[in-house]
Amino acid sequence: MREASSYPLIRTDQLTKCYRAGRAEVHALRGVTLTIERGEYVALMGPSGSGKSTLMHLIGCLDSPTSGTCEINGQDIARLNDVELARLRNREIGFVFQTFNLLPRLSALANVQLPMIYAGTRPRERTRRARELLTLVGLEDRMTHKSNELSGGEMQRVAVARALANQPALLLADEPTGNLDTRTGQEMMALFDHLAEQGNTIIVVTHDAGVAGHARRIIRLRDGMVEAE
Ligand SMILES: Nc1ncnc2c1ncn2[C@@H]1O[C@H](COP(=O)(O)OP(=O)(O)OP(=O)(O)O)[C@@H](O)[C@H]1O
Ligand SMILES: [Mg+2]
Repeated sequence: MREASSYPLIRTDQLTKCYRAGRAEVHALRGVTLTIERGEYVALMGPSGSGKSTLMHLIGCLDSPTSGTCEINGQDIARLNDVELARLRNREIGFVFQTFNLLPRLSALANVQLPMIYAGTRPRERTRRARELLTLVGLEDRMTHKSNELSGGEMQRVAVARALANQPALLLADEPTGNLDTRTGQEMMALFDHLAEQGNTIIVVTHDAGVAGHARRIIRLRDGMVEAE
């Protein structure tokens, strides 16, 4: 994914997602077609329930669409096998979940090291990089805390550090500043700005116009459709 290619990094075509919850059907996405080029810094906005997290999960190869296609680097992800998908997710995509998804009984340091274990990074390098990342997000004095001993904002920052562990080409962040105080949120956005300047592709979900102001493109969803750019 890092090499130059004639394909856009992400291209979705008429993506739909229908969830079944008991007898109810929820049409979370109703035909989303968009293209995101390498190096773009995109904010994804829209009301609660408009399908932002659903779209992020599909782009992040964490879930499959009901219909339509999602291509990463020209490759339809529905055609990848489990090994290829796991590799793509682990090496190329960093995901900050809206709910953090940290392992509660592991320390901050161990949580950040997990993706590197899957990638086969050596222990010494893993520890070095995890310390570096936790320092970057301002948690140098919380490294040995278990994640259930951290505040919401601290967990969020561990989640960002973990997402950056394998130096992903694509960073998907779902409300990464939602639980942060103003100052920490601004530090997080400065970190994202820095990553964007280095040529990383970033998609950030936010309700905050200030956060969206950092991005160079804003996509708005409403009722599962792209409402405006
Ligand atoms: N696993 C699921 N099963 C059933 N319905 C779901 C599931 N996940 C999401 N939904 C529904 O799909 C719709 C879109 O949800 P999604 O999480 O994508 O919204 P969102 O834009 O991220 O909202 P928020 O800003 O509140 O995080 C919502 O109506 C939600 O209730
Ligand atoms: Mg959401």
